[in-house]
Amino acid sequence: MTIQDVHSFARPEEAVVTHLALDLAVSFEKKNLSGKAVLSITNKKNVSELHLDARDLVIEKVTLGTNEEASTFELTKPVEHLGSDLKIRIRPDTRVVTIYYSTLPQAAALQWLEPEQTAGGSQPFLFTQSQAILARTWIPLQDSPNIRFTYDAVIRCRPELMALMSAENDTKKNPKGVYHFKMPQAIPSYLMALSVGDLVFHQYTSTCGVFAEPVLIEKCAYEFADMPHMIEAAESLYGKYRWGRYDLLVLPPSFPFGGMENPRITFATPTIIAGDRSLVSLVAHELAHSWSGNLVTNATWNDFWLNEGFTVYFESRIMEKLYGKEYADMLTVLSYEELVNTVKEMGDSPDTKLYLDLKGRDPDDGVTDIAYQKGRFFLTAIERAAGIEKWDQFVNTYFNTFAFQSMDTRHFLEYLNRELIKGDADLEKKIRINDWVYGTGLPSNCPVIQSDELKKAEQMARDFKAGKAASEINTAGWTTHHWLYFLRMINDTLNLKQIADLDKTFGFTQSGNSEILCDWFQVCIKNNYADSYAALDRFLLQVGRRKFLKPLYIALSKTPEGKKLALDIYKKARPGYHAVAVQTIDDILEYRP
Ligand code: BES
Ligand code: ZN
Repeated sequence: MTIQDVHSFARPEEAVVTHLALDLAVSFEKKNLSGKAVLSITNKKNVSELHLDARDLVIEKVTLGTNEEASTFELTKPVEHLGSDLKIRIRPDTRVVTIYYSTLPQAAALQWLEPEQTAGGSQPFLFTQSQAILARTWIPLQDSPNIRFTYDAVIRCRPELMALMSAENDTKKNPKGVYHFKMPQAIPSYLMALSVGDLVFHQYTSTCGVFAEPVLIEKCAYEFADMPHMIEAAESLYGKYRWGRYDLLVLPPSFPFGGMENPRITFATPTIIAGDRSLVSLVAHELAHSWSGNLVTNATWNDFWLNEGFTVYFESRIMEKLYGKEYADMLTVLSYEELVNTVKEMGDSPDTKLYLDLKGRDPDDGVTDIAYQKGRFFLTAIERAAGIEKWDQFVNTYFNTFAFQSMDTRHFLEYLNRELIKGDADLEKKIRINDWVYGTGLPSNCPVIQSDELKKAEQMARDFKAGKAASEINTAGWTTHHWLYFLRMINDTLNLKQIADLDKTFGFTQSGNSEILCDWFQVCIKNNYADSYAALDRFLLQVGRRKFLKPLYIALSKTPEGKKLALDIYKKARPGYHAVAVQTIDDILEYRP
């Protein structure tokens, strides 16, 4: 199928990259990667120009063929978000193109960390984040999710450090600091990933383990011990895991996302280490992407809901299998409330449609609860209407049929109609595909999930708001999710005395749980409870996860004093944040450096 990707200069219908061989040296002194990318191409139309994506790259020279005959190239004037079209002169019979290049220190995919930004504090750290269109800031390639290639790589770094990639990996340090990688399955460019740091490995099974800095490895080993069971649960639902190993890499806290589904090695924020395994649904989510996303890939960023909606749905099924329906329902209800708030805030914006129009915009604009949660509830609605057995069979076949291919919204809906709905007018009416996919807001047939557990927390919140003392509230057996629900329920109508009472009784300000802290700080900011501000300041300086930064900076900017405090903190914290977080927070605070 020919699909137009408005976020790439590549012309895969003319000439397409099929394999990438990287050879890169990592310099923490220069904050750059330098070396070469060797691209194998298929020149389908015998064209004389190859179009690649490149942004903030210094291209030194380009050669053709294995004998490396010199060629010429042109980098067009950069376009916002997209960077440049790197046009390389090729010949109709060219099969191999070699690009000698280096990255610039500001390359948005790369974050270069000082030793102080790591848990160990003595070695620097580097990680990449390629999704959505940042791979082109560290590799010249066809940066579209609609194009897949295999890759191999040599990475050269200091011998004290260890390099990891989204590929077959050594799990041990190499004494010379030279690492070889191989990814035999074809992947889209946004799954290219590299990390370099002082890392060690804890093995759970022969195919599953966790990487972390030495001082964190024990905590991590405990926290994520259910990973092998998650894989089993996922496989029992939607078929064999197809990527060989599945490992987790726990990054320093400036990682701007919760997790990133890099194949074979999920990258994750350390803020999910709660000490009690209560935030591991994030690992289930990234694991689920091994099917929805990495196997069957959204063809363009307008189809992002196909990646994330399916993944949230699958994540929830894994959680239910592992921890029971009651537990999974708590998570679903919390997400539903967030979705309802998002839909309220976004009004009738076209961005509340599942199928997006991101032409001329940053694909990052599509990263909202719509793709994730509206997408998930759409699939839940189909599951309910069709019956879970038929639905599971359908999803299973879908992943198998389109494995290692991309999928856009239109073709997915065609497939759904053909293989599941099959002309059943009654079923079609129940699902209301068009309202979900091409309509704004939340359709009235959105499934409603109830959680008896969270109802208990709700009752306690009501009692507290009505004047009950914190110490009289029955919180026996509460999980993180009860606390989050409770905090959200009391959020708007407290006085300072009540907040101090809560803090004294439950010690929220000292909590080691990042999710609880984030919600608690919002309560504190809203009510100007200054006793928590030292902890808030520490949190914002340490943590770079955008999901937390965003609501906290927004809450602060609602009052003049808050905004001043926000700017004071932000000026200190900004150099430690990743480029994608900086972009978001600059906008919120209208900060122009
Ligand atoms: N693939 C996403 C992260 C992403 C999306 C990065 C778009 C860049 C652009 C990842 O799977 C994800 O969804 N992470 C979530 C966690 C999840 C549990 C909802 C996150 O980082 O918060
Ligand atoms: Zn995801």
